[in-house]
Parts: sequence; structure tokens; C-alpha cells
Amino acid sequence: MNTHVLALPLMVAQECLGAFDTSYQHEMRDAMAAFRLGRSASNTDSASPISFCNSTQTVLVTGATGFIGQQLVRALIRDGHTVVALTRRQKEAARLFDGKVRCIESMNDLAASFHIDVIINLAGARILGPRWSSKRKKVLLQSRVGLTQSVVDWIARATCKPSLLLSASAIGYYGIQKIGDQTMLDETAPPQPMFMSDLCRQWEAAASGAIEHGVRVECMRFGLVLGTQGALPMMMLPILLGVGGKLASGRQWLSWIHVEDVLRGIAHVWTQARREQDANVQVTPHTYGVTNFTAPECVTQQTFSKTAARIWKRPSFFPTPGWPLRLVLGKQADLLLEGQRVVPRRLQREGFVFLHPELAGALESLR
Ligand SMILES: NC(=O)c1ccc[n+]([C@@H]2O[C@H](COP(=O)([O-])OP(=O)(O)OC[C@H]3O[C@@H](n4cnc5c(N)ncnc54)[C@H](OP(=O)(O)O)[C@@H]3O)[C@@H](O)[C@H]2O)c1
Repeated sequence: MNTHVLALPLMVAQECLGAFDTSYQHEMRDAMAAFRLGRSASNTDSASPISFCNSTQTVLVTGATGFIGQQLVRALIRDGHTVVALTRRQKEAARLFDGKVRCIESMNDLAASFHIDVIINLAGARILGPRWSSKRKKVLLQSRVGLTQSVVDWIARATCKPSLLLSASAIGYYGIQKIGDQTMLDETAPPQPMFMSDLCRQWEAAASGAIEHGVRVECMRFGLVLGTQGALPMMMLPILLGVGGKLASGRQWLSWIHVEDVLRGIAHVWTQARREQDANVQVTPHTYGVTNFTAPECVTQQTFSKTAARIWKRPSFFPTPGWPLRLVLGKQADLLLEGQRVVPRRLQREGFVFLHPELAGALESLR
């Protein structure tokens, strides 16, 4: 039995559910995900409150209804901030956040005179799922580059500019690493001529357009974010069924981060930016800042599988060849078969303390 091939139809089904974009299907998707990990999604909301800023701020969040966005918005509300959510699903957002956020469907719904302090830009169609046909690539680009551009266009119109734009990106920026390549990729590593790299470069470039309006821009290159939603439930499926194991050689790197550290990392980057602004270090940098959001312990896919199987008390002996994934996913299979060994150099340099620096502890917390 092919372990990861088992997860594939579900992955694609999950993506297709997302494509219809009705609240019912999103609920179903999230319920499926939560069920697979045996706990409800809201249980992963960061246990200890996070302090993003010591004064009350108005924060615009795009992608607020997503896996990271939901937890971020709840943490922001808990920290006393006012949240405006840019979403195509206003009813769903109102329900998710108990009517505590103002929802807008388009940046045109926000008056130029409306005051926003900080923007956190997370929106984007799911990367893993249907093959990257030219139509799909357009959706992936438009939902990131196009949407980010509409945020920057609003900033250009705004009478009072936000001080900070925190914009999502991905470690896909660095392309892929050949099996056996031990190079550690920090924030200075270059992109490669391939779709994921190009997508991230264009996404970051669109965000950086805010600099010319006096806004500080920080791009967050996320690794695989672990939580009860996102990719983990699908990855866990073969393991929970007792047919987990190495995928292809199993030696591809997997750079991950716990969702709680993502939220705390966002607060860290925000606080650093604030400190520098308060100290008048530099009025507006000429370029944007970049932070790798990955845990210090990067593992191989085989180690990931073995660790998860041990924690969920399942076997991990079943190898899966890479070719069926290539057959179904085409170039997208690179994401699973050829990873990246990414280090969170900037977070470490700035003394950020990870709540979940090691994989075993991170998975244990999600059990
Ligand atoms: N989770 C990870 O492991 C990971 C890793 C690397 C990078 N990232 C990036 O980080 C961001 C947040 O991740 P996430 O896991 O929270 O994502 P997610 O759960 O897929 O949510 C993304 C949000 O983007 C919006 N969106 C989806 N398709 C869209 C479209 N076609 N046009 C406009 N908006 C669309 C949706 O909001 P509405 O339906 O409310 O409009 C959705 O809630 C994403 O951009 C993702 O690519 C995530």
C-alpha cells in the first residue's frame, strides 16, 4: 500500500472543497482536519496570551479565515487590538470571530481616511492541491501578488499611512535542494529559476511597493506550519492508518515551525520594528526585511515520519516511491520529494526563544 498516495486524493479533495468557497465546505474541511488529529481546531489557539504591542492598534488582516489567520486574529483580539479582516467570506468570518472583527470584501470598501496601524497579509490560494496548470498558476499568483498589490494601492490612497506591513511568503523562495545537499539556507540564500521561487519573489516584490509610501515592510518566509489545520492532518493520515514511512529516499529536508511560534514570531518582528521606529534608527528602510519562520531543528522526511509514528504509537516501516506523486502532482511533487534545509538565522540572532524548537515536542503538543 502506498502511504502518501493514500493521502493524495484527500489532499486534492480538500483543495477542491476550498475551491467552492462556501462556508459549509470550509467547515467540512476544517472539521475533517480537526477530526484527523482527534481534537478541535480552536484547541490549538496559543495557550499563553501574546503581546503584539503595548498600545491598542487597528490591524488589517488578509487571509484572516485561514489556518494561521484564525489563530492570529483571536490572539490579536485577546491582546486588545481592533481587527479588520479582508475576506471573501464575510459571514464565515463574522461567525469565526463572534462578530468581533469588521469584515471587508475588497480594499475598495475601506475609506482612504480610515486609520490602520499595521497590516498582516496572509491571503493566498492553497499551494498544495491541483496540478500547477497555467490556470492554477494564475490563481496562485493573483491571490497573492494581485491581492497584495490591492493592499499597496490602498496604502497609496490612505491619508494616514500604516507604520508596518507584515507580509507572508514561503521558504519556497529558495527553490529546492538536491538530496544530500547539507547547505543551510538563511535569509541571504538566493532564489532559483522555478515557479515557487518566482511566485514568492513576485509576492515579496508586490509587498515591497509599500516602502515608497513610508511603510516598513517585513516579509515572513514560512516553512511547513504545524497545527491541527494546514498540511499536518493530511501528512498524518498514512501514519494514523499505520502505513507511514519514508517517502522516496526519505532524505529530503523538511523545514517546519509550530503555529504558536508563527504567532509569537509575528509579535517578535512587530516589536523589533516598533523598537527601531521608536529609537528612530531609520525612518524608512530602502529595502524590506526578511525573516525565515522555521524551527531551529530541521529534519529529514524520514525522521519526521518516524518521530510522528513514535508519538502516535504507530509503525513507520512502509516506504513509498516518489513516482506516483510525480504522476499526480507533476512539478508540485518537488515540494514533497526535494525539500529545503532552512535556518531561522534572523530570529535566532535577535534572541527569539522558540516554544517548540524540536519536532518531537511540537508534535507532542498537537497530539
Ligand atoms: N500553512 C503553511 O504551512 C504555510 C507555509 C508557507 C507559506 N504559507 C502561506 O501563509 C499564508 C497563510 O497560510 P494558511 O495556512 O493560513 O493559509 P490558508 O489556511 O490556506 O488560508 C489562506 C486564506 O487566503 C484566502 N484565500 C484563499 N484563496 C484565495 C483566493 N483565490 N483569492 C483571495 N484570497 C484567497 C482565504 O481567505 P478568505 O476565504 O477569507 O478570503 C484563506 O482563508 C498563505 O498565503 C500561505 O501560502 C503557509
